[in-house]
Amino acid sequence: MNKLGILTSGGDAPGMNAAIRAVVIAAQQKNIETMGIKGGYQGLIDRNIDRLTPFNVEGIADKGGTILKTSRCLEFMKEEGRKKAVRVLKEFGITFLVVIGGDGSFKGAEKLHHLGINVISIPGTIDNDFAYTDYSIGFDTALNTILDSISKIKDTDLSHDKTTIIEVMGRYCGDLATYSALAGEGEIISIPERKLDFNTICSQINSKIASGKHDNLIIITEKMYDIRELKKYIEERLKISVRTSVLGFIQRGGSPSAFDRILASKMGVKAVELLTEGHSGLAVGIKENKLISIEFGNVNNILSDNYEKFRLLDTFSTFNKGDQVLS
Ligand code: ADP
Ligand code: F6P
Repeated sequence: MNKLGILTSGGDAPGMNAAIRAVVIAAQQKNIETMGIKGGYQGLIDRNIDRLTPFNVEGIADKGGTILKTSRCLEFMKEEGRKKAVRVLKEFGITFLVVIGGDGSFKGAEKLHHLGINVISIPGTIDNDFAYTDYSIGFDTALNTILDSISKIKDTDLSHDKTTIIEVMGRYCGDLATYSALAGEGEIISIPERKLDFNTICSQINSKIASGKHDNLIIITEKMYDIRELKKYIEERLKISVRTSVLGFIQRGGSPSAFDRILASKMGVKAVELLTEGHSGLAVGIKENKLISIEFGNVNNILSDNYEKFRLLDTFSTFNKGDQVLS
Protein backbone atom coordinates (compact mmCIF):
# COMPACT_ATOMS: atom_id res chain seq x y z
CA MET A 1 0.00 0.00 0.00
CA ASN A 2 1.29 3.47 -0.89
CA LYS A 3 1.82 5.97 1.89
CA LEU A 4 1.41 9.70 1.46
CA GLY A 5 3.07 12.23 3.76
CA ILE A 6 1.66 15.74 4.08
CA LEU A 7 3.21 18.82 5.66
CA THR A 8 2.59 22.54 5.94
CA SER A 9 5.60 24.85 5.85
CA GLY A 10 6.51 28.56 6.11
CA GLY A 11 3.92 31.09 7.26
CA ASP A 12 0.53 29.55 8.07
CA ALA A 13 -2.39 30.60 5.90
CA PRO A 14 -6.16 30.25 6.38
CA GLY A 15 -7.33 27.33 4.24
CA MET A 16 -4.32 25.10 4.89
CA ASN A 17 -6.57 22.87 7.00
CA ALA A 18 -9.11 22.56 4.20
CA ALA A 19 -6.26 21.48 1.90
CA ILE A 20 -5.05 18.89 4.43
CA ARG A 21 -8.58 17.53 4.74
CA ALA A 22 -8.92 17.28 0.95
CA VAL A 23 -5.62 15.44 0.55
CA VAL A 24 -6.44 12.93 3.31
CA ILE A 25 -9.94 12.18 1.97
CA ALA A 26 -8.82 11.98 -1.68
CA ALA A 27 -5.96 9.67 -0.71
CA GLN A 28 -8.23 7.37 1.28
CA GLN A 29 -10.50 7.02 -1.73
CA LYS A 30 -7.51 5.77 -3.68
CA ASN A 31 -6.59 3.39 -0.91
CA ILE A 32 -3.53 5.39 0.12
CA GLU A 33 -2.63 5.75 3.78
CA THR A 34 -1.82 9.32 4.91
CA MET A 35 0.81 10.40 7.39
CA GLY A 36 0.75 13.87 8.96
CA ILE A 37 4.22 15.39 9.30
CA LYS A 38 4.05 17.91 12.15
CA GLY A 39 5.96 21.20 12.06
CA GLY A 40 7.03 21.44 8.42
CA TYR A 41 10.49 20.33 7.29
CA GLN A 42 11.73 20.47 10.90
CA GLY A 43 9.10 17.92 11.90
CA LEU A 44 10.15 15.72 9.01
CA ILE A 45 13.79 15.78 10.08
CA ASP A 46 12.76 15.15 13.70
CA ARG A 47 10.46 12.20 12.74
CA ASN A 48 7.43 14.00 14.11
CA ILE A 49 5.08 11.88 12.01
CA ASP A 50 1.75 10.21 12.79
CA ARG A 51 -1.05 8.55 10.89
CA LEU A 52 -3.69 11.00 9.74
CA THR A 53 -7.10 9.52 9.01
CA PRO A 54 -10.29 11.03 7.55
CA PHE A 55 -11.62 10.91 11.11
CA ASN A 56 -8.71 13.19 12.27
CA VAL A 57 -9.55 15.81 9.64
CA GLU A 58 -13.27 15.97 10.25
CA GLY A 59 -14.54 19.50 10.97
CA ILE A 60 -11.24 21.31 10.29
CA ALA A 61 -12.10 23.06 7.01
CA ASP A 62 -13.40 26.16 8.79
CA LYS A 63 -10.39 26.52 11.12
CA GLY A 64 -7.57 28.98 10.50
CA GLY A 65 -3.91 28.07 11.02
CA THR A 66 -2.76 24.52 10.39
CA ILE A 67 -3.47 21.45 12.51
CA LEU A 68 -0.12 20.08 11.31
CA LYS A 69 1.72 23.13 12.64
CA THR A 70 4.43 24.78 10.59
CA SER A 71 7.95 26.12 10.90
CA ARG A 72 10.82 27.84 9.19
CA CYS A 73 13.60 25.26 9.25
CA LEU A 74 17.23 26.27 8.90
CA GLU A 75 18.50 22.69 9.04
CA PHE A 76 16.56 21.88 5.85
CA MET A 77 18.37 24.68 4.01
CA LYS A 78 21.51 22.56 4.25
CA GLU A 79 22.11 19.48 2.12
CA GLU A 80 22.74 17.31 5.16
CA GLY A 81 19.33 18.27 6.60
CA ARG A 82 17.59 17.38 3.35
CA LYS A 83 19.37 14.03 3.12
CA LYS A 84 18.22 13.29 6.65
CA ALA A 85 14.66 14.18 5.61
CA VAL A 86 14.88 11.72 2.71
CA ARG A 87 16.12 8.98 5.06
CA VAL A 88 13.16 9.63 7.39
CA LEU A 89 10.66 9.45 4.50
CA LYS A 90 12.15 6.09 3.48
CA GLU A 91 12.16 4.82 7.06
CA PHE A 92 8.41 5.58 7.34
CA GLY A 93 7.71 4.04 3.93
CA ILE A 94 6.37 7.36 2.61
CA THR A 95 6.28 7.16 -1.18
CA PHE A 96 4.29 10.31 -1.95
CA LEU A 97 4.67 13.77 -0.40
CA VAL A 98 2.41 16.85 -0.50
CA VAL A 99 3.93 20.15 0.62
CA ILE A 100 1.61 23.07 1.35
CA GLY A 101 3.40 26.40 1.72
CA GLY A 102 4.90 29.44 0.07
CA ASP A 103 7.78 30.15 -2.25
CA GLY A 104 10.49 28.98 0.17
CA SER A 105 8.65 25.73 0.92
CA PHE A 106 8.39 25.09 -2.82
CA LYS A 107 12.17 25.47 -3.19
CA GLY A 108 12.58 22.86 -0.48
CA ALA A 109 10.08 20.58 -2.24
CA GLU A 110 11.95 20.98 -5.52
CA LYS A 111 15.14 19.83 -3.84
CA LEU A 112 13.37 16.75 -2.44
CA HIS A 113 12.07 16.00 -5.93
CA HIS A 114 15.66 16.07 -7.20
CA LEU A 115 16.59 13.68 -4.41
CA GLY A 116 14.09 11.16 -5.81
CA ILE A 117 11.00 11.89 -3.70
CA ASN A 118 7.60 12.00 -5.47
CA VAL A 119 6.36 15.41 -4.41
CA ILE A 120 3.59 17.81 -5.40
CA SER A 121 3.15 21.21 -3.81
CA ILE A 122 0.12 23.36 -3.11
CA PRO A 123 0.42 27.18 -2.76
CA GLY A 124 -0.55 28.18 0.78
CA THR A 125 0.40 31.76 1.64
CA ILE A 126 -1.48 34.99 2.31
CA ASP A 127 1.09 36.87 0.20
CA ASN A 128 -0.11 35.59 -3.23
CA ASP A 129 3.48 35.99 -4.33
CA PHE A 130 3.57 33.25 -6.99
CA ALA A 131 3.47 34.36 -10.60
CA TYR A 132 2.19 31.02 -11.98
CA THR A 133 -1.12 30.95 -10.10
CA ASP A 134 -3.84 33.59 -9.91
CA TYR A 135 -4.45 32.78 -6.23
CA SER A 136 -2.74 31.04 -3.35
CA ILE A 137 -4.70 29.59 -0.46
CA GLY A 138 -5.13 32.19 2.31
CA PHE A 139 -4.90 35.31 0.18
CA ASP A 140 -8.65 35.86 -0.08
CA THR A 141 -9.20 35.45 3.67
CA ALA A 142 -6.35 37.83 4.53
CA LEU A 143 -7.70 40.32 2.01
CA ASN A 144 -11.11 40.23 3.68
CA THR A 145 -9.52 40.64 7.11
CA ILE A 146 -7.70 43.73 5.84
CA LEU A 147 -10.92 45.09 4.35
CA ASP A 148 -12.67 44.72 7.67
CA SER A 149 -9.94 46.83 9.32
CA ILE A 150 -9.96 49.38 6.50
CA SER A 151 -13.71 49.94 6.92
CA LYS A 152 -13.26 50.59 10.62
CA ILE A 153 -10.31 52.94 10.11
CA LYS A 154 -12.26 54.79 7.42
CA ASP A 155 -15.14 55.45 9.83
CA THR A 156 -12.90 57.31 12.24
CA ASP A 157 -10.78 58.96 9.52
CA LEU A 158 -13.88 60.39 7.91
CA SER A 159 -15.19 61.67 11.23
CA HIS A 160 -11.91 63.48 11.98
CA ASP A 161 -10.78 64.32 8.44
CA LYS A 162 -7.59 62.32 9.00
CA THR A 163 -5.07 60.63 6.76
CA THR A 164 -3.92 57.13 7.74
CA ILE A 165 -1.04 55.02 6.47
CA ILE A 166 -2.02 51.35 6.64
CA GLU A 167 0.79 48.82 6.38
CA VAL A 168 -0.24 45.37 5.19
CA MET A 169 1.69 42.12 4.83
CA GLY A 170 2.83 40.56 1.55
CA ARG A 171 6.56 40.20 2.06
CA TYR A 172 7.89 41.50 -1.29
CA CYS A 173 4.57 41.25 -3.12
CA GLY A 174 2.03 44.06 -3.44
CA ASP A 175 -1.11 41.98 -4.03
CA LEU A 176 -2.63 42.39 -0.56
CA ALA A 177 -2.07 46.16 -0.76
CA THR A 178 -3.36 46.53 -4.31
CA TYR A 179 -6.48 44.39 -3.95
CA SER A 180 -7.37 45.89 -0.57
CA ALA A 181 -6.87 49.47 -1.78
CA LEU A 182 -9.13 48.83 -4.74
CA ALA A 183 -11.84 47.02 -2.77
CA GLY A 184 -11.53 49.28 0.29
CA GLU A 185 -11.55 52.61 -1.59
CA GLY A 186 -8.02 53.59 -0.66
CA GLU A 187 -6.57 56.74 -2.16
CA ILE A 188 -2.87 55.91 -2.57
CA ILE A 189 -1.02 52.61 -3.06
CA SER A 190 2.68 51.98 -2.78
CA ILE A 191 3.91 48.43 -3.40
CA PRO A 192 7.33 46.86 -4.02
CA GLU A 193 6.52 46.46 -7.72
CA ARG A 194 5.61 50.17 -8.03
CA LYS A 195 7.23 51.94 -5.11
CA LEU A 196 6.40 55.62 -4.65
CA ASP A 197 8.91 57.96 -3.06
CA PHE A 198 7.87 60.16 -0.11
CA ASN A 199 7.62 63.21 -2.33
CA THR A 200 5.20 61.54 -4.77
CA ILE A 201 3.05 60.33 -1.88
CA CYS A 202 2.87 63.91 -0.57
CA SER A 203 1.88 65.32 -3.96
CA GLN A 204 -0.86 62.71 -4.29
CA ILE A 205 -2.25 63.57 -0.85
CA ASN A 206 -1.98 67.24 -1.69
CA SER A 207 -4.06 66.88 -4.81
CA LYS A 208 -6.69 64.99 -2.79
CA ILE A 209 -6.76 67.77 -0.20
CA ALA A 210 -6.96 70.38 -2.96
CA SER A 211 -10.00 68.56 -4.36
CA GLY A 212 -11.63 68.76 -0.92
CA LYS A 213 -10.91 65.23 0.35
CA HIS A 214 -9.32 65.35 3.77
CA ASP A 215 -9.60 61.71 4.89
CA ASN A 216 -7.14 59.73 2.81
CA LEU A 217 -5.90 56.16 3.06
CA ILE A 218 -2.37 55.33 2.00
CA ILE A 219 -1.95 51.57 1.72
CA ILE A 220 1.61 50.30 1.69
CA THR A 221 3.27 46.88 1.65
CA GLU A 222 5.43 45.99 4.64
CA LYS A 223 9.25 46.16 4.54
CA MET A 224 9.35 49.11 2.14
CA TYR A 225 9.73 52.08 4.44
CA ASP A 226 10.02 52.97 8.07
CA ILE A 227 6.37 53.92 8.54
CA ARG A 228 7.27 56.43 11.31
CA GLU A 229 9.60 58.26 8.93
CA LEU A 230 6.92 58.40 6.25
CA LYS A 231 4.41 59.77 8.76
CA LYS A 232 6.88 62.43 9.95
CA TYR A 233 7.76 63.43 6.38
CA ILE A 234 4.10 63.90 5.37
CA GLU A 235 3.28 65.79 8.58
CA GLU A 236 6.19 68.18 8.13
CA ARG A 237 5.64 68.72 4.40
CA LEU A 238 1.84 69.05 4.40
CA LYS A 239 1.25 70.34 7.93
CA ILE A 240 -1.39 67.71 8.62
CA SER A 241 -1.46 65.04 11.30
CA VAL A 242 -1.16 61.49 10.06
CA ARG A 243 -2.19 58.23 11.72
CA THR A 244 -0.45 54.92 11.18
CA SER A 245 -1.80 51.41 11.48
CA VAL A 246 0.34 48.30 11.05
CA LEU A 247 -2.18 45.47 10.73
CA GLY A 248 0.29 42.69 11.62
CA PHE A 249 -0.57 39.10 12.42
CA ILE A 250 -4.35 39.46 12.48
CA GLN A 251 -3.94 39.13 8.71
CA ARG A 252 -2.70 35.56 9.05
CA GLY A 253 -5.46 34.17 11.26
CA GLY A 254 -9.17 33.55 11.17
CA SER A 255 -11.63 31.17 9.62
CA PRO A 256 -10.94 30.79 5.89
CA SER A 257 -13.33 32.37 3.41
CA ALA A 258 -15.54 30.18 1.24
CA PHE A 259 -13.23 30.97 -1.68
CA ASP A 260 -10.16 29.71 0.18
CA ARG A 261 -11.90 26.56 1.43
CA ILE A 262 -13.08 25.68 -2.06
CA LEU A 263 -9.72 26.49 -3.64
CA ALA A 264 -7.95 24.38 -1.01
CA SER A 265 -10.36 21.47 -1.52
CA LYS A 266 -9.86 21.49 -5.28
CA MET A 267 -6.09 21.77 -5.01
CA GLY A 268 -5.83 19.01 -2.42
CA VAL A 269 -7.75 16.57 -4.61
CA LYS A 270 -5.68 17.58 -7.65
CA ALA A 271 -2.39 17.00 -5.81
CA VAL A 272 -3.38 13.41 -4.97
CA GLU A 273 -4.54 12.81 -8.54
CA LEU A 274 -1.19 14.00 -9.91
CA LEU A 275 0.80 11.77 -7.57
CA THR A 276 -1.25 8.67 -8.37
CA GLU A 277 -0.90 9.40 -12.09
CA GLY A 278 2.86 9.17 -11.60
CA HIS A 279 3.75 12.88 -11.59
CA SER A 280 6.29 14.57 -9.35
CA GLY A 281 8.01 17.94 -9.15
CA LEU A 282 4.83 19.87 -9.94
CA ALA A 283 3.02 22.75 -8.26
CA VAL A 284 -0.76 22.95 -8.39
CA GLY A 285 -2.26 26.33 -9.27
CA ILE A 286 -5.33 28.04 -10.62
CA LYS A 287 -5.35 30.11 -13.79
CA GLU A 288 -8.49 31.69 -15.22
CA ASN A 289 -10.55 29.53 -12.87
CA LYS A 290 -9.00 26.27 -14.11
CA LEU A 291 -6.72 24.05 -12.06
CA ILE A 292 -3.26 23.78 -13.55
CA SER A 293 0.02 22.14 -12.65
CA ILE A 294 3.45 23.47 -13.51
CA GLU A 295 7.02 22.27 -13.01
CA PHE A 296 8.69 23.70 -9.90
CA GLY A 297 11.36 25.35 -12.03
CA ASN A 298 8.72 27.47 -13.77
CA VAL A 299 6.66 28.73 -10.85
CA ASN A 300 8.06 32.23 -11.06
CA ASN A 301 8.86 32.36 -14.76
CA ILE A 302 5.79 34.21 -15.95
CA LEU A 303 6.28 37.59 -17.63
CA SER A 304 5.59 40.31 -15.12
CA ASP A 305 3.25 42.15 -17.47
CA ASN A 306 0.92 39.16 -17.21
CA TYR A 307 0.34 40.08 -13.62
CA GLU A 308 -3.27 40.78 -12.79
CA LYS A 309 -1.95 43.23 -10.22
CA PHE A 310 -0.72 45.63 -12.91
CA ARG A 311 -4.15 45.58 -14.52
CA LEU A 312 -5.62 46.25 -11.10
CA LEU A 313 -3.32 49.24 -10.63
CA ASP A 314 -4.67 50.64 -13.88
CA THR A 315 -8.20 50.10 -12.62
CA PHE A 316 -7.25 51.73 -9.33
CA SER A 317 -6.01 54.79 -11.19
CA THR A 318 -9.49 55.15 -12.76
CA PHE A 319 -10.82 55.83 -9.28
CA ASN A 320 -7.97 58.18 -8.42
CA LYS A 321 -7.57 59.92 -11.76
CA GLY A 322 -4.47 61.97 -12.19
CA ASP A 323 -3.01 60.84 -8.88
CA GLN A 324 -1.40 57.47 -9.47
CA VAL A 325 1.95 57.37 -11.20
CA LEU A 326 1.75 54.21 -13.27
CA SER A 327 5.12 53.78 -14.87
P1 ADP B 1 7.30 30.26 2.71
O1 ADP B 1 7.22 28.84 2.30
O2 ADP B 1 6.04 30.76 3.34
O3 ADP B 1 7.82 31.15 1.59
P2 ADP B 1 9.94 30.34 3.93
O4 ADP B 1 10.56 31.16 2.86
O5 ADP B 1 10.32 30.63 5.33
O6 ADP B 1 8.36 30.39 3.90
O7 ADP B 1 10.30 28.81 3.61
C1 ADP B 1 9.84 27.78 4.46
C2 ADP B 1 10.92 26.76 4.64
O8 ADP B 1 11.24 26.15 3.39
C3 ADP B 1 12.24 27.31 5.13
O9 ADP B 1 12.26 27.51 6.52
C4 ADP B 1 13.21 26.20 4.72
O10 ADP B 1 13.13 25.11 5.61
C5 ADP B 1 12.60 25.78 3.38
N1 ADP B 1 13.32 26.47 2.30
C6 ADP B 1 13.20 27.77 1.93
N2 ADP B 1 14.04 28.08 0.92
C7 ADP B 1 14.73 26.94 0.66
C8 ADP B 1 15.77 26.60 -0.27
N3 ADP B 1 16.27 27.50 -1.13
N4 ADP B 1 16.22 25.33 -0.26
C9 ADP B 1 15.72 24.41 0.60
N5 ADP B 1 14.76 24.67 1.49
C10 ADP B 1 14.25 25.91 1.52
O1 F6P C 1 4.59 34.79 4.23
C1 F6P C 1 3.55 35.18 5.08
C2 F6P C 1 4.02 36.29 5.99
O2 F6P C 1 2.96 36.61 6.87
C3 F6P C 1 4.52 37.54 5.27
O3 F6P C 1 3.47 38.35 4.82
C4 F6P C 1 5.37 38.17 6.34
O4 F6P C 1 6.37 39.01 5.81
C5 F6P C 1 5.99 36.98 7.01
O5 F6P C 1 5.13 35.87 6.74
C6 F6P C 1 6.17 37.10 8.50
O6 F6P C 1 6.88 35.99 8.91
P1 F6P C 1 7.08 35.50 10.41
O7 F6P C 1 5.86 34.71 10.75
O8 F6P C 1 8.28 34.63 10.36
O9 F6P C 1 7.25 36.72 11.22
